[in-house]
Amino acid sequence: MAANRKVSETGQASTPVRALRLGVNIDHVATLRNARGGMHPDPLRAAHLAIEGGADGITAHLREDRRHISDTDITRLKNELTRPLNLEMAATDEMLQIALRHVPNACCLVPERREERTTEGGLDVQGAAKTLKPFVAKLKDAGIRVSLFIEPDIKTIEASSDVGADIVELHTGRYCNLALEHDAAGVAFEIERHRKAASAAASVGLEVHAGHGLTYNTVQPIARIPEIVELNIGHFLIGEAIFGGLSMAVRRMRVLMDEAREALSAQRGR
Ligand code: PXP
Repeated sequence: MAANRKVSETGQASTPVRALRLGVNIDHVATLRNARGGMHPDPLRAAHLAIEGGADGITAHLREDRRHISDTDITRLKNELTRPLNLEMAATDEMLQIALRHVPNACCLVPERREERTTEGGLDVQGAAKTLKPFVAKLKDAGIRVSLFIEPDIKTIEASSDVGADIVELHTGRYCNLALEHDAAGVAFEIERHRKAASAAASVGLEVHAGHGLTYNTVQPIARIPEIVELNIGHFLIGEAIFGGLSMAVRRMRVLMDEAREALSAQRGR
C-alpha cells in the first residue's frame, strides 16, 4: 500500500501515514432501479463511475430480502469490476454458498434484521462466537478476507480477533447521528471511542475500516484516525450524485426535446 511520510511538528520524520482507501457502496443505485424494475440505473455502470472518480473498491450488500442488490448484480460486479469487490452479507448458510461461489476479495459480515431500513448496529461477536468462528474459517479457507462490522467496543474487538477475522469495520452510525443533532460532546465522545477502538484493533493485528452514515461533514475526524485504512461510504454519495448530475441530465433531455421540435417545424415548413 502507498504510504505518505509525515513530518512531525519538530521537523523529524514520524511514522508513515498509511493511505486511506475508499470503498463506494452502490446499494442505493439498485434501490432506485428496483423502484421501477428493469435495468436503469445500473449498479455496475455506477461502480465503473465510482472507480473513475477515485474509489479503490466497490461494496455491495446482498440482503436476504434482495431489497436492493440482486444475485445477478453480484455476478456482474464480480466478473466485470476492475477493482476489489467487498460483499456485505449476513452470516447465513445461503450467503456462505454465494460467497464461496463468487470468491469476492472480501466479505463483510453484518447483522441483518428484515424490518430495519439499514444496518442499525454492529455484530454481537461475543454472543455469536461459536457460529462465527467456523463461518469465518470457511471464507478464509476459500481465500476471502473477512471483515466484521462492529461497534467501536474493545470487548467486541477482542472477540473479533478470537474468531479469526482479518478486519473489523467500525460502525460510525452513532457518531454521524450525533453530528446531525449538533451534539458536540457526544461527537467528541464517539470520536475518542473510535480512536481507542482503532488503536486496540490494530494492536492485535486487525486491519481497521469504518463506515456508515458518513458525509462531507463527518468524514474528516474519522479519516484522521491513523489506524483506519479504509472507509466504506454509500447512501450520502449516491444522494449527492443526484445534485452533481441532475442539471446535466435535464439539459440533455431539453436538447433532445428541442431537436425533435425543430425537426417537426422544419418538416411542416417544407
Ligand atoms: N459499511 C457497512 C458494513 C454497511 O452495512 C453500510 C451500509 O450498507 C455502509 C458501510 C455504508 O453506509 P452508508 O450507506 O450509510 O454510507
